[in-house]
Amino acid sequence: MIEHVVNALSEAVDQQRRLDVDTLHSVVEFLGTYADRRHHEREEALFFPLLVRRGVPPQGCPIGGLNNDHAKGRALVATLADQIPAYAQQHPDAERALRQTLGDIARLYRHHLWMEDAMVFPMAERLVSEDDHQELLAKFIDLDRVIGPAVVARLERFADTISFPAGGTGTAG
Ligand SMILES: [Fe+2]
Ligand SMILES: [Fe+2]
Repeated sequence: MIEHVVNALSEAVDQQRRLDVDTLHSVVEFLGTYADRRHHEREEALFFPLLVRRGVPPQGCPIGGLNNDHAKGRALVATLADQIPAYAQQHPDAERALRQTLGDIARLYRHHLWMEDAMVFPMAERLVSEDDHQELLAKFIDLDRVIGPAVVARLERFADTISFPAGGTGTAG
């Protein structure tokens, strides 16, 4: 889901697609709630501590670096949220700044996803038992109850259907 949204952001920047303001607000909500509050919380509060209990160092590569990326991502999403009003009001330079932030977000997340897929998950396969899996799963479900299953489902629908239409720059549409 996160990769899908990140790929859509990359395409929107690379192909100079039109950035609809409502879609940008939804991107902020998706990244803040689904990516950060749900997915990163799963990692920071549950999955990474489990790896640490299994002997992976909490600092340095990979866990320290990944936590650092989460913090950078949070800051970039806050920047994006701050930039939307000026963009919506078509202030000079607002679109350029906003596209820069979207590109930074896409690059950060892409590298981060690659690190987790290539380094962390293969390592976890060796360190995490079936019982650990079941325990994590139960805690993930608890976390979803806190966020709200309807919110999760709505944000997943957004990720499934996100698109930025071709048609150049500007807030219209
Ligand atoms: Fe992560
Ligand atoms: Fe992740």
